[in-house]
Amino acid sequence: MKDLTPKRSDLEPIEIASRDEIAGLQLERMRWSLKHAYDNVVMYKQRFDEAGVHPDDLKSLSDLSKFPFTYKDDLRANYPFGLSAVPMDQLARIHASSGTTGKSTVVVYTPNDIDMWANMMARSLRASGLRAGDMVHNAYGYGLFTGGLGAHYGIERLGAIVVPMGGGQTEKQIELITDFKPKGILVTPSYMLNILEAYRAAGIDPRSCSLDVGVFGAEPWTNAMREEIEDAFDMHAVDIYGLSEIMGPGVANECVETKDGLHIWEDHFYPEIIDPETGEVLEDGEKGELVFTTLTKEGIPMIRYRTRDLTRLMPGTARSMRRMEKVTGRSDDMIILRGVNVFPTQVEEQVMAIDALAPYFQIELHKSGRMDAMRVHVEALPESADDAARSASAETLTKKIKEIIGVSTEVVVGTPGTVARSQGKAVRVVDNRNKD
Ligand code: DLL
Repeated sequence: MKDLTPKRSDLEPIEIASRDEIAGLQLERMRWSLKHAYDNVVMYKQRFDEAGVHPDDLKSLSDLSKFPFTYKDDLRANYPFGLSAVPMDQLARIHASSGTTGKSTVVVYTPNDIDMWANMMARSLRASGLRAGDMVHNAYGYGLFTGGLGAHYGIERLGAIVVPMGGGQTEKQIELITDFKPKGILVTPSYMLNILEAYRAAGIDPRSCSLDVGVFGAEPWTNAMREEIEDAFDMHAVDIYGLSEIMGPGVANECVETKDGLHIWEDHFYPEIIDPETGEVLEDGEKGELVFTTLTKEGIPMIRYRTRDLTRLMPGTARSMRRMEKVTGRSDDMIILRGVNVFPTQVEEQVMAIDALAPYFQIELHKSGRMDAMRVHVEALPESADDAARSASAETLTKKIKEIIGVSTEVVVGTPGTVARSQGKAVRVVDNRNKD
């Protein structure tokens, strides 16, 4: 893999500023953001008043813990534009996430928000090893999803060349990568595996392609999957994190030179880790739920937004800004099976560790009598797909899941092509518990 470390002189001064300087800027911006929310959004005024706090009470960053949390349900309750802090005619763009139940959550952006987003996305891409003049294939979905357009504007802001491919049409993806020879690709990690499969089906060696780096996010993925992709394509696989409520992609990003967790762009997004049960703020290093407060966002300021993503905060390495550990899962993706907590990423790790299995999986929850049960659907690689090899793989995976994760599961090893393929965010869990 190529050395893509950016030059120190290419970084923004704030990325390598002292912690004091960063904290000073955060405090100033946090004061502004709390006041902006209180003065312009009815819900925030009511919530702050009920909690007996006022933006003027923020004397230090730790005073933030006195302010109430904001939840995804608050966006739904204020559908579509109730949380907007500016008049409609000052908005530049609207995005929405579909959500599996109920109304979608809607987010709005002013021209300054769009500008800040492009800057943070460009910073993320620079951290990933891309620079002006590089060609970047953007396979995140365009439309209401923040992935496509968010990445698009960041690529342009970096001064790179964007190929606005979007998701789907896997053969076309390969054709364009082969013909245009981009240096970077932006796509969900699960869809990258789909692209990998199509390379193999077409008889093209993926290691021969032009890609030097992939910037993968929008869903949890493991270091085991990173290795799989890096080996298959001979490219760097870097993690990008973000969420619509806070902005979109580019809230945090790994640095290609360290790949040791994602640096949070703390000059615009203030992170806290809390105990999801009690709401208490935890020390850096402790694992819990990630909570964000936006520091500069005008359209919808977010104060202490509960992401439901589980991670921990760590000190900066390649940059001064703090890192978050790779997100292992969301609290709402957690499966509780006979008292044991299971995340799909834990299953992913075990699937990736078995050479005879393809890197695709789906977890089915069902009822076994009155108990909840888990069935893991995976598939054999073509060279290990006969009955004997498949039942051996099933036995190995069942054993590993029992030993390492601590739950009994049924494993179904199908023939190649039997597990659903992702076009964007993979659906890892199918809940059939109410089906019988
Ligand atoms: O997925 C924004 C995005 C687009 C991020 C492209 C990265 C790349 P939403 O659709 O609002 O926004 O979903 C946000 O996706 O709360 C996490 O649960 C999950 N997520 C996003 N990035 C990662 C990641 C976009 N790198 C939700 N690792 C978040 C794990 C991630 N989970």
